[in-house]
Amino acid sequence: MEYYQLTQTNLTDYLKLLPEVQLRFSSFDSLKVQEINDGNMNYAFVVTNKLDTNQSVFVKQAPPYIKVLGEQWPLTRQRMTAEINALNYQVSVCPEMVPEVYYQSETLSVLIMENLSTHALLRTELIQGRYLPRLAEDLSTFLAETLFYSSDFALPSADKKAMVSKSSNQEMCQITEDFVFTYPFEHHDMNDYNPALSQSIIDSIQKDANVRAHVAQMKFIFMNRPEALLHGDLHTSSVMVNVQQTFVIDPEFSFAGPMGFDIGALIANLYLSYFSHAHKSSAESVNYSQWLLQTIDDLWYKFEAKFLSLWSEHEQSALSTFMGKDLTGDSHQIFRQIFLQQVFSNTLGFAACKMIRRILGVAKVADFMQFEDQKLRAKLETQALKMATTMLLNRQSYANIGDVNKLAEDVSSI
Ligand SMILES: Nc1ncnc2c1ncn2[C@@H]1O[C@H](COP(=O)(O)OP(=O)(O)OP(=O)(O)O)[C@@H](O)[C@H]1O
Ligand SMILES: [Mg+2]
Repeated sequence: MEYYQLTQTNLTDYLKLLPEVQLRFSSFDSLKVQEINDGNMNYAFVVTNKLDTNQSVFVKQAPPYIKVLGEQWPLTRQRMTAEINALNYQVSVCPEMVPEVYYQSETLSVLIMENLSTHALLRTELIQGRYLPRLAEDLSTFLAETLFYSSDFALPSADKKAMVSKSSNQEMCQITEDFVFTYPFEHHDMNDYNPALSQSIIDSIQKDANVRAHVAQMKFIFMNRPEALLHGDLHTSSVMVNVQQTFVIDPEFSFAGPMGFDIGALIANLYLSYFSHAHKSSAESVNYSQWLLQTIDDLWYKFEAKFLSLWSEHEQSALSTFMGKDLTGDSHQIFRQIFLQQVFSNTLGFAACKMIRRILGVAKVADFMQFEDQKLRAKLETQALKMATTMLLNRQSYANIGDVNKLAEDVSSI
């Protein structure tokens, strides 16, 4: 079958032909097809049986261009192959945290999966100030499992190298290289600034030789460290939640990269959410911002503990260690500490770049954009930019995540 564009009109006829989808619906005569428009890159639909709304699927198709910009913005459909590849991997190590896949086609660049109709985007829930008691537990599991099992600590060397070459996702990496690590740090036409944001704060990033050198270092690490198979775009709109469950969606930027990039993306967006709540004086907002900081703290410590425990469990069961023989066990201990310290400082460096790009770059976040008052927004943006630059420059000096949370608190009171 050749590629063609699925639409609200032809989707039912396509689904009818797929045995995997036939199992999901008792009849194809009463299907409702609803287009979902909150993503930008791809077409997305929810298909429901009007006679039994428990029967439904979510369909996503990548066109050979960026959906919201149209055909004059070509983008290879390879991104759906990367998404399928990543999702298949995530299902294999962490099935409870990704939607169940019913059908996939690289030819049509289509994924048909479980409809998460009782879940909402994490970003939306954070904006509403909803408490999510499972969030740190679940996301730390997702990070530890996906990052550990695709690393050299779990995979035989040849399998790891095969994974790296299979997941190059060059075009999507180029987007990250440009839009996360380059344009926001120079005066570029693609950038978009809040008119109320002072030129001096923009200059303190774009014209500071030190800041720019450190960003270049993070970009180089992004491009040259295939440590594990990453999600590649793990912000708070790539997570769907309710109080009982957490799902990770949309790994179309997946590639083999540095572990801190996924952790940093999440932490960056949680700090942006923190600044969007911490400026309010109500007891409710104070409590919620403290919960966000506690969640960041838990996320890091739980990730670290789970990653270390997978590491030693794996070595015990495989009866071999990454390092070879270590009579006393001390070298293991030291190496693990050094390794996780480096993941931590990379996490902070990447989180900083991600925070800055959401303010100076083209892609904004609803956590800040919900405020129509440009001056208020500029105040929050200034806080986030100050935190990000300090965190970037000092990323190797923080002893623990608690010290970074302290920085967020200090900055939010200016
Ligand atoms: N399995 C699912 N069940 C229900 N809704 C979903 C599911 N996956 C995604 N969605 C919804 O569809 C939207 C678009 O999905 P997704 O983010 O994967 O598409 P995208 O085009 O890659 O978006 P973006 O431009 O943000 O990268 C999501 O924001 C979410 O609201
Ligand atoms: Mg996407």
